[in-house]
Amino acid sequence: MKAVKIGSVGLGRLGYEHARNLANLIPGCVLQAVCDMDEPRLRAVAEELNVPRAYTNFAQMCEDPEVEGIVIVSPSFLHVEQIRLAMEHGKHVFCEKPLGVDVPQCRQAEAVVERHPELVFQLGFMRRFDVSYAEAKRRVEAGEIGRVVLVRSYTQDPRSTIESTLKFAPHSGGQFLDMCVHDLDLVRWFTGSSIQKVWGIGGVFEFDLYRELNDADNAAAMVQCENGAMGFLFTNRTHAAGCNVETEIIGTRGTLRVAPVGARDLLQIVDGHGARQEYYPDFMSRWHDAFVAELTAFTGHIRSGTRPSDLTVYDGTAVSEAAYRCKESFECGKMLPIR
Ligand SMILES: NC(=O)c1ccc[n+]([C@@H]2O[C@H](COP(=O)([O-])OP(=O)(O)OC[C@H]3O[C@@H](n4cnc5c(N)ncnc54)[C@H](O)[C@@H]3O)[C@@H](O)[C@H]2O)c1
Repeated sequence: MKAVKIGSVGLGRLGYEHARNLANLIPGCVLQAVCDMDEPRLRAVAEELNVPRAYTNFAQMCEDPEVEGIVIVSPSFLHVEQIRLAMEHGKHVFCEKPLGVDVPQCRQAEAVVERHPELVFQLGFMRRFDVSYAEAKRRVEAGEIGRVVLVRSYTQDPRSTIESTLKFAPHSGGQFLDMCVHDLDLVRWFTGSSIQKVWGIGGVFEFDLYRELNDADNAAAMVQCENGAMGFLFTNRTHAAGCNVETEIIGTRGTLRVAPVGARDLLQIVDGHGARQEYYPDFMSRWHDAFVAELTAFTGHIRSGTRPSDLTVYDGTAVSEAAYRCKESFECGKMLPIR
């Protein structure tokens, strides 16, 4: 198998996970370079993972002729500029969600990707690579549950990681953009239809910081697609038992549920507290295999010179736009159409 040489930018919470996967778990991948503006962190990760090149300056990593593809795991407001720089230097790009922090930014990303049809572009909607979600999609496509009527999807981070969440909140783009993008992507993916109108609601129940950010610490949205199918989303950052992501797809002929109890395994523990199941402690452990699978797919696309046909830059724009409209709807208290 031909080795594919990757450079990765951003070595924070998720960036470190991706860097470790690229260095150790992706078949035929060489982690050739890493980049982070935090120099001590950069040096430590480069040494730990035995990475030949380390850059504090992203533009310099883009000039490295040894690097074929770039994995972008930097703060969301940097994504579009880094996509542009990477592609203008002839690099294939995998970019974490969200594509951009506003719709004009997403349109700029579309234009860059359109200018470089010879390069792979893939977005980090890793739920699509999770075995259970992929199986649900296969069954929906096979018509097993008839016509999809409603997608209900919850994304709850654990209270145990609230400290890093609050630090990340000011540059996250807000709850709808940062958390609900995954659920909005699932609504579009499972219904096969574009979101047409949204009603975002929510409130500050615990953390005043969200009030200062004009955001909610608990948020929900109802959405409706062009084909009439509906979506109901809920998100918060204080789930008691760990990372909870659960999705229900209701069709005219049946229902599919992914992780209705977000338990880590099938083990039931019976002790002085009663009978219980352990949850995944954080999003990293919940999605570990999906993170590996999406980057395996990315390096596979580079090797075969193909682009993912069903996960495009336009999905990134559509989902970001829906998330933005949810935020606007939450702010003005009205149901809003997607423009
Ligand atoms: N797919 C998912 O479920 C998922 C989960 C978490 C995060 N994310 C996304 O991943 C991205 C990163 O999130 P995170 O939680 O790892 O963030 P983080 O704040 O933990 O890490 C960001 C890293 O980028 C570095 N950085 C900042 N500016 C830089 C620059 N100009 N050049 C190089 N490095 C720079 C920082 O030093 C830091 O190490 C975000 O876009 C986020 O939305 C996706």
